[in-house]
Amino acid sequence: MSGSPAADVPASRPAEGAAAGRRPEGRPLRPYGLRCEHRTAPLGIDEPAPRLSWRLASDRRGDDPVAYRVRVAERPEDLDGCRQLLWDTGRVADSRATAAVYAGPALRGRTRYHWRVSVWPAGTAAPAEATSWFETAFTGPAAWQASWITHDPRPVEVMDAPTEGESALDHHGLAPCPVLRRAFTASPGARARLHVSARGLYEVRLNGVRIGDAELAPGWTDYHRRVQYQTYDVGDLLREGENVLAATVADGWWSGFVGFEPRRAGAHYGSFPQFLAELHLTYPDGRSAAIVTDGAWRTSTGVIRHADLLMGECHDLRHACDGWELPGFDDGGWSPALVTDTDRRRLVASVDEPVRATAELRPSSIRRVSPDTHVVDFGQNLAGRVRLRIGELAAGARVVIRHAEVLDASHRLYTANLRTAAATDVLIGDGRRHFVFEPRFTYHGFRYAEISGLPELSESDVVAVVLHSDTPWAGEFDCSDAGLRRLHDCVVWGQRSNFVSVPTDCPQRDERLGWLADAQVFLPTAALNADVAAFFTKWLRDIDDARSPDGGFSNVAPRLVGVCDEGAPGWGDAGVIIPWHLYRTYDDPRFLGRALEGMRAWVDLIRRHNPDLVWRRRVGPHFSDWLAPGTPTPRDVVATACFAHSARLTAKAADVLGHTDVGDHYHRLADGIRRAFTECFVTVERAAAGPDAVRITGDTQTGYLLALAHELLPDDLVEGAAHRLAELVESAGPALVTGFLGVALAAPVLDAHGRADLAHALLNRDEVPSWRFPLRHGATTIWERWDGWTPEAGFRAPAMNSFNHYALGSIGEWLYRGVAGLDQAPDSTGYRHLRIRPRPGALRRASARHESVRGTVEVSWERRGGRLALCVRVPPGATADVYVPTTDPRSVRESGAVPGVGDRHITLLATASDHVLHRVSSGTYRFTATCPPAVGGAGTTPAARPSLTPGRHMPGPAAKPSSARSHEEDTP
Ligand code: BGC
Repeated sequence: MSGSPAADVPASRPAEGAAAGRRPEGRPLRPYGLRCEHRTAPLGIDEPAPRLSWRLASDRRGDDPVAYRVRVAERPEDLDGCRQLLWDTGRVADSRATAAVYAGPALRGRTRYHWRVSVWPAGTAAPAEATSWFETAFTGPAAWQASWITHDPRPVEVMDAPTEGESALDHHGLAPCPVLRRAFTASPGARARLHVSARGLYEVRLNGVRIGDAELAPGWTDYHRRVQYQTYDVGDLLREGENVLAATVADGWWSGFVGFEPRRAGAHYGSFPQFLAELHLTYPDGRSAAIVTDGAWRTSTGVIRHADLLMGECHDLRHACDGWELPGFDDGGWSPALVTDTDRRRLVASVDEPVRATAELRPSSIRRVSPDTHVVDFGQNLAGRVRLRIGELAAGARVVIRHAEVLDASHRLYTANLRTAAATDVLIGDGRRHFVFEPRFTYHGFRYAEISGLPELSESDVVAVVLHSDTPWAGEFDCSDAGLRRLHDCVVWGQRSNFVSVPTDCPQRDERLGWLADAQVFLPTAALNADVAAFFTKWLRDIDDARSPDGGFSNVAPRLVGVCDEGAPGWGDAGVIIPWHLYRTYDDPRFLGRALEGMRAWVDLIRRHNPDLVWRRRVGPHFSDWLAPGTPTPRDVVATACFAHSARLTAKAADVLGHTDVGDHYHRLADGIRRAFTECFVTVERAAAGPDAVRITGDTQTGYLLALAHELLPDDLVEGAAHRLAELVESAGPALVTGFLGVALAAPVLDAHGRADLAHALLNRDEVPSWRFPLRHGATTIWERWDGWTPEAGFRAPAMNSFNHYALGSIGEWLYRGVAGLDQAPDSTGYRHLRIRPRPGALRRASARHESVRGTVEVSWERRGGRLALCVRVPPGATADVYVPTTDPRSVRESGAVPGVGDRHITLLATASDHVLHRVSSGTYRFTATCPPAVGGAGTTPAARPSLTPGRHMPGPAAKPSSARSHEEDTP
């Protein structure tokens, strides 16, 4: 995972001295991590009112901002004065803001703007400042001149008689990738911006040098509604005289295979890929030129005989046309480009970070399985592709790379669970020596690759290239239990593998769709691990584009014809839940502003079909609590709980946006659904002593989890429901028998109702169903099913058995919020008010760090010698409620002193039997208190250790986890 850029890290770590009891002054308040539209210095935005945001750091306590000022200018030097400023907020007295939305004169297209934020601390000190920039691209379709072009697909068959390479995968009906080139005259020294898109995927080069590092660009959208383009600065690549722009395009999501619907397996948007580009040159003397895609481009096909996301890619080097991307190549034998149309209305600037190759993994083992075939284990399930160094390949000789997540009983690739995804890359030689093969327009979900056609294969010849949307990494979790560390690793790898332009369900089989429920249950975890604001900004547009004419959200976005369109409970509701969570995380009300109409339409739609407020009709395919192993939760219970939740969040969104009447309306509706839920599904047996026996129809864990999480019960029934939930969890193992909708709620709800011990018990369990069971059997990512493979039954039915599905990984949230204790208070947005409440369980230590929109939040705690030390870092402008776990309130100290004595930054709020609660201002704090020693639990019992012997059929534990420290090392 690529880390955040250096500028994103506050300039110094928490004051070491503070942790040691001393409190040196350290560096004062300062802004850092400047973002425009949630991205660092974006090149080529089309947002007319961009949001400019910053984070804050200070090494001093209570060093909060009192005011800010934002200035925007076209020239950086103008930021120093007042005259040439384009926009100036002036000094705004605001101690909480970390963003301003541009409200100056209309931004011009294709222009770089510089901006500066100044932040004043209290007192008379001068403001601290930081500067960044953003650049606009096209401000509307009228500005474009380019046409969509391609290599004329009609004569392809005639031009390229079938060869071995093509016929091998003929049944897929895949065509060679068009290559396109345009020579032009230029000189170095020009400002040069290249704006590029494709209906399909593109890779573009200028004078032979690849432009940018985006993979699978321009990304997946519903191309009938929106086609993204990217902007690149290519000034450094211009040369005197002849220059050449060269592009290869591939089917991608546009015309390749997507999803699993056999009646509509491919070509969802078009039948052949097309390309569009504009290169704008502006010379220092004012001359300008534009090279745009049009009929003057020359086209052909080249080495890539087919490229498909699901099927794989085939390179036949005998079709190589060396030098075609360079000046001087004679393209006289090529065809003129076919201009397909000039429709530029759907072009939009991309708003998120592209998919990038972010890591390379060397094999952990290579096993020869026949004279010219090897099975390579990369030690980690991932999404990406294999890069192979080839010494020599005879003309016509083939190297075939097949991919799989797991091995079968005979230690060969198990590919049945890929369904129709061939996931096979092919290389056909032409006799050349010493070259590198790497597919460019496909990706696979795999840990193992079977490489045939090479008699020798050494570890230095092969790497797995990891691909994913490059969301900046923003979280760290660590603890004393090696099992939990590995679980966190699996969760993170699930996120890496499945954030590929859209949040997908899985990266390996013929599916890889943006399923809404999977994403909504995983979002809280994802947003702790990484900064996903820009990624989800883009996907919320996809969700909006996928809405039905009657206002319904879909089940997958981008929408695919034939893939169960009508939004189901918990799936369609993601259209409401996701913007709300993003608003809370990133403190950007525009998430709600853009979504409110869709939220209302969704809730109204359900209401229209269900006037009695019990959601039974218009439930789409109703997946219910998908893949729950236990007794199914009644569908109307699941649906009505989701309906109530969506209505409530819609009301809250309207409140935030100041639409009070609208808010009131949906609050009343939510109240009504809540009543209907209780009337229809809740029964109570009053008890003479102890809590009343509360029963929710179906009596399933998920039923209680939904009712408690979404506050659907009258106050006097909450305790009884929580009690019953705990009974059900306990009697099941303790174990969780929920599916996708219940799993994300389990630990937070149990914790909220005083049963953090049960949440820990669930984490410690290592039999099916549990998170540790897959770990015991070598999992390196989260499985789709609790029992995807068991020693007794082997693999579950291949039709639905992914080993890289993040939904059950939604427990990751509680590792941060519960185990480490890093959380924001329920009514807080953008980490303004933190809640630091560790749930140590039987662990010896845990820590978490999150780079929030406000600045760095850190928590770490450790037990040693009967005392617990809890270190907390609170960013400027924030406050925190710190729960120090202890049964002896008088033992609590902060930096060695009685808390609050002589320090106005600490206030005692409450003392309880198991904790002391303080409110603190921004800064770094080190609390200590006596605490009982850690006993029992995972991390201390042999049963919880990851098995060191590989399962009978499954691979052994990952050979390379970053948390490779031994379990024993950390046992208290
Ligand atoms: C996907 C899931 C998805 C589900 C809908 C499956 O095929 O893999 O993750 O949510 O369909 O129930």
